[in-house]
Amino acid sequence: MSGTRLFFAVCLLISAVAFLLAIPSTAPEKAMPPAPDVGMGVWQEYKCEGCHTLYGQGGNYAPDLTHIYATRGGDYLREFLLNPAAFHPDQRQMPMLGLTKSESDNLLAFLQWVGEQPAANTWPPRPINVSGGGSLNVLPANASTTISSAANSADPVVRGQYLFSNAPAICSTCHSLSADVVIVGPSLAGIANRAGSRVAGTSAEEYLRNSIVHPSDFIVPGFQDVMQKNFGDVLTSDQINDLIAFLMTQK
Ligand code: HEC
Ligand code: HEC
Repeated sequence: MSGTRLFFAVCLLISAVAFLLAIPSTAPEKAMPPAPDVGMGVWQEYKCEGCHTLYGQGGNYAPDLTHIYATRGGDYLREFLLNPAAFHPDQRQMPMLGLTKSESDNLLAFLQWVGEQPAANTWPPRPINVSGGGSLNVLPANASTTISSAANSADPVVRGQYLFSNAPAICSTCHSLSADVVIVGPSLAGIANRAGSRVAGTSAEEYLRNSIVHPSDFIVPGFQDVMQKNFGDVLTSDQINDLIAFLMTQK
């Protein structure tokens, strides 16, 4: 083969390749339903966890996204992922990552899946719900009764006071008796004054009994329904009466 022919042959080959490359790919993108596992690949590829956390794991530069799908919803997030610069211009900005539509759909399927996992229910962990300064004074400073005699006192108020901070009740894990100290549940300082007006038509004693036995019936505004539900089983009716007698002295 002469040098010239070889030269033309190579030129032909190059132009053929160039021609093939120039043909736009007309095959439409296959419409695959978005999938969480594919989305997880996109999450890793774009290093989202360099800036974001899921279940608290990852970078702390940008918000935790464990519950973002439930918080913002798919429509908002789709817009956001394709054009983050258009959102919250006054805040730290997320860079434009140039995601394709299908990448962002898969990511959203992944973020939705993350938020639906059982572990996501406990993330973020509850904050340490203690505010205020006082001390957890359960027995009055001038109490002459010792702890063991308190448990067997003839006075229901003293027995109830003992139970309040001892097994099997230990209400004091979650309730303080100082007005300015909130643990997990509301302070029970002054509860005797409020109990009668919490639920229309329910006396203070009835309300207290129901608060102990059926805590979910009435949720004190601003608190979560986390008081345990089994006090009706673990406490005897005498013990519940004693607790009520004690709480009725908290004026
Ligand atoms: C370089 C850091 C960085 C990377 C990488 C990054 N983000 Fe972000 N992202 C941010 C910042 C900063 C914000 C807060 C933006 C704001 O408040 O406007 C944010 C916010 C978000 C939000 C919440 C939007 C809202 O309004 O609540 C979502 C969802 C999100 N990012 C998803 C992703 C996904 C998915 C990836 C990976 C494909 C990713 N981010 C990668 C920095 C980043
Ligand atoms: C695990 C934490 C926890 C324990 C233990 C607990 N509680 Fe509660 N309690 C709460 C929370 C949270 C609320 C507020 C939500 C609600 O109303 O159920 C509450 C509400 C109450 C209320 C209503 C207060 C109001 O202002 O209306 C009373 C009364 C009460 N608890 C009494 C008790 C007694 C008595 C005990 C012990 C037998 C006890 N709790 C043990 C968490 C707890």
